[in-house]
Amino acid sequence: MTEHQTVQTLNQFIIHRQTQHEGARGELSRLLHHVGIAAKIVNRAVNKAGLMDILGNYGDKNVQGEDQQKLDVFADIHFIDALKASGECAAIASEENENIITFDDEMSKNAKYVFCMDPLDGSSNIDVNVSIGTIFSIYKRISPRGEEATIEDFLQEGTKQVAAGYIIYGSSTMLVYTTGNGVNGFTLDPSIGEFCLSHPNIKTPEKGKIYSINEGNYINFPTGVKKYIKYCQEKDVDTGRPYTSRYIGSLVADFHRNLLKGGIFIYPETNKNPTGKLRLLYECNPIAFIAEQAGAQATDGHNRILEIKPTELHQRVPFYTGSNKMIKRAEEFLDFFESEE
Ligand code: AHG
Ligand code: MN
Ligand code: MN
Repeated sequence: MTEHQTVQTLNQFIIHRQTQHEGARGELSRLLHHVGIAAKIVNRAVNKAGLMDILGNYGDKNVQGEDQQKLDVFADIHFIDALKASGECAAIASEENENIITFDDEMSKNAKYVFCMDPLDGSSNIDVNVSIGTIFSIYKRISPRGEEATIEDFLQEGTKQVAAGYIIYGSSTMLVYTTGNGVNGFTLDPSIGEFCLSHPNIKTPEKGKIYSINEGNYINFPTGVKKYIKYCQEKDVDTGRPYTSRYIGSLVADFHRNLLKGGIFIYPETNKNPTGKLRLLYECNPIAFIAEQAGAQATDGHNRILEIKPTELHQRVPFYTGSNKMIKRAEEFLDFFESEE
């Protein structure tokens, strides 16, 4: 960045956008502003993790029976606090909590929005200094304002999201979000403590050269996925194969790379986990909203993720997301081998 280049901060951008697209009341802007604050608090902890006694196991399990890391719990608490402080959030669904968290102060009870989150994505990478993230999704509640929010507020199709985004704590920290008018990315400038617009109007290339899947699970994949992986590894000049394999093990980081460079990310159903591993409400839906807004796709192998009607808070789905042409090809493999079985 040159010395005289104008910087647009996240807050300036949100306010500007809001007057263009979202009416004048500022509720969503305030909510997003507080997401930015929580992101900075978590970022500070992530950056100092090795020095802060914040690495390692918390000593408890979350609702899905997974070991909670200290940073999972730290991020969860700080996002909940910031959202409560915003007064614009009536309730939260979090990976780390079995039930929804409702707020009973007057302002929050009257709030228009509910918030779904994976406060810390990529837990297995926390202790080893590899990129991790936070994923979030915002809905308008359907329960009456002034009353306690209900689980039904969260069991809405992804098409109803009013905003979704993620923070990636990587070699730099970025916040990427959409409100349905394209995708924009902001890089945290630590010297001024602000997220600054660095990636306006992100678009994913129609085709890419990266495939991302945990190949250690190969033996348990559906035949279509196995065959698609072999297809990715074959030589073909026209399609630029063999593709490159990249898999970090943090959804946010794997998705972010493919969003910018083009590629395909797959976390399929397996013999062990017939509904896949990733969670619909706070992993797949927000990522799918961003993918579509960037011109890419997100499906469960057959159906658009955003059209799935959730039945449970912590529901899992098979997840296929990435460049249009690559998703189309992968789905052809699934369809063909399913029809054979
Ligand atoms: P979380 O840390 O929030 O539980 O999410 C971990 C998820 C996701 O980030 C990643 O894509 C996937 O788990 C990796 O799973 P595998 O280790 O099975 O590949
Ligand atoms: Mn996750
Ligand atoms: Mn998590």
